[in-house]
Amino acid sequence: MQRQLLHPTYATCLAVLAAAALVAAAAQPGAGASLDLGAPDHFQAAVCEAAAAFVSESGHQVRVHCVSVPPGALRIAEEGQMDVIVPPCNNSSKLFSDRGWVRPETGKRIFCRRMAIILPPGDPRGITALADILRPDVKVASLTVLRERIEEFAPSLCRDPDVSLDVMAVWLRDADQMMDLLANGEIDAVLAWDTFAAADPRNFAVIRLPRSEVGDQACAPITAFVTPGADEPEAAQQLVDFLSDSLTAQDIFLKHGLMTDDGSDAAWYDEFAARRFQKVYENVCQQVIDDYGIVEGLALDIGCGPGQMTATLARMTRLDVTGLDIEPECTEIARRHAAEAGLADRLHFVCADAHSLPFPDNCANLIISRGTLPFLRDHALAVQEAYRVLKPGGVAFLGGGMGRYTPTEDALKLYPQGVAPGTALGWGPGQTRENSIFPFPVQSFETLMTRTGIPNYNVIDEGGRWVEIRK
Ligand SMILES: C[S@@+](CC[C@H](N)C(=O)[O-])C[C@H]1O[C@@H](n2cnc3c(N)ncnc32)[C@H](O)[C@@H]1O
Repeated sequence: MQRQLLHPTYATCLAVLAAAALVAAAAQPGAGASLDLGAPDHFQAAVCEAAAAFVSESGHQVRVHCVSVPPGALRIAEEGQMDVIVPPCNNSSKLFSDRGWVRPETGKRIFCRRMAIILPPGDPRGITALADILRPDVKVASLTVLRERIEEFAPSLCRDPDVSLDVMAVWLRDADQMMDLLANGEIDAVLAWDTFAAADPRNFAVIRLPRSEVGDQACAPITAFVTPGADEPEAAQQLVDFLSDSLTAQDIFLKHGLMTDDGSDAAWYDEFAARRFQKVYENVCQQVIDDYGIVEGLALDIGCGPGQMTATLARMTRLDVTGLDIEPECTEIARRHAAEAGLADRLHFVCADAHSLPFPDNCANLIISRGTLPFLRDHALAVQEAYRVLKPGGVAFLGGGMGRYTPTEDALKLYPQGVAPGTALGWGPGQTRENSIFPFPVQSFETLMTRTGIPNYNVIDEGGRWVEIRK
């Protein structure tokens, strides 16, 4: 089998900038310790914002030094100038701990990134899975730094000996031009990390890839370490704890498109949802069927999780239903359920981001989304995306809760903490993330809908908090 994986037609230069750049100096004179934090420059915005939040909470001073990778990150570790290091990836975490440059016991995961297919929004080429990039008409580019990873998983993709994965390799410093080529339609897809800065999910659709297809390296957990040379190890440890464990830092990382989860709890959620929520899924679907009467055509379930409500909608109607979730492990479990239930011909799953849907305009007769909005970093954008793909005459029913057909006593049983239905989502007055089940930063759907500019909607307070949108 002839396999031509990467040819560096686009790459001209081996140089990787390693100069440390002082990118943020957030300081309160005279207060606390003074810490130096080293991080790779592709996480610059997120790490600087998190460091600034730490400064205002702790009173310590933090200077963030961002370097491009790989030599820059290794050099700052070697020279021992940093108190805390955020390595560029889990491989370099291991390298650091193997060389004894860091205290491994202090390593904690702060966020994850995923191998992903990045596409222009609207998916003009109909690419929804890794197998699609093998089509001879699809031009794919990737970063040279990912060459080895792609070479590892590519053989398992090419079952047909006449087919090879032909990937144009691009140096990191040319990544912006690569994304321009993608935006201009000169290439069709990019294989890269989903956190790759040029691939802002506001401008591109991102399909994260599951471990079963690209191996264990599909998901790279990023850690933070206290270095052995830290002048003030206690304060350095506080910074690591803040980056790893605080809700403030988690919010900041999510806002910058990073994951704080690696999808490994999808199986747990699958079991939990099946055990607790099946009746709720039936109730919500029945309500949607009764209220909108849309029982054929195309339906989308945005943030479908392991796909139980998606499958329920398919079973209760004649709709072709596509579930979409950002966690590849969720869509994988969901596909398995669909096959087991004999529904695979009209029940499909796509791993993608609600902020940039890989679907054309005006394609869906019905859109449902339950329990997903609270997790999104730009609610207005996600709602606008749903509106874009909604067909004229169609309805989108987005929000969270048990639906009005779920009796209050059943809803209360589902939440043993005893919070009232409707406020159980953390959307009630005075509820904070700590004392609620779901966080939702938007105070009300009215505010959100005004921001979207979508004219025809109705906020529903019964059985949770929902918005129905008509086009
Ligand atoms: C609480 S679960 C709800 C799952 C399902 N709808 C249900 O009612 O059981 C929220 C889901 O939203 C997904 N999600 C979070 N952010 C997302 C995004 N940006 N795009 C698509 N799905 C997302 C999560 O992976 C998770 O499966």
